[in-house]
Amino acid sequence: MFIAMNRFKIKPGFEQDFIEIWKGRDSHLKSVPGFQSFNLLQGASHDDHTLFSSHATWDSRDDFDAWIKSDAFKKAHANAGSRKDIYMGPPQIECFEVVL
Ligand code: HEM
Repeated sequence: MFIAMNRFKIKPGFEQDFIEIWKGRDSHLKSVPGFQSFNLLQGASHDDHTLFSSHATWDSRDDFDAWIKSDAFKKAHANAGSRKDIYMGPPQIECFEVVL
């Protein structure tokens, strides 16, 4: 199993805007080979940002890599950059092989 997480730092006061973007997204994940599950996680709030992370589990790294190169990925991100004003910089991707 393989886990891919993307950390987003959202400016204070824009948390709900960020959640609404994800609620309204046109998701294509369910039909993608090897996809298992997705969650959007809200973490701690600090003076200058609130931490969120997207968390997706996959059967394997190969399935994840194939999705990154697919039209489904492009479609899911067609509008991803449209609210640059709510982000404290670009997201940070973190990938993990599940070892136990
Ligand atoms: C390798 C890098 C990335 C990974 C693994 C990733 C992961 C994901 C996943 C799993 C989804 C849900 C897709 C669906 O439901 O079909 C998604 C959507 C989204 N991603 Fe990414 N993402 C990446 C890069 C980025 C970047 C650079 C941004 C820049 C802001 C971003 C912002 C978003 C947003 C805002 C959505 C919600 C979709 C929408 O706007 O309608 N992602 N991403």
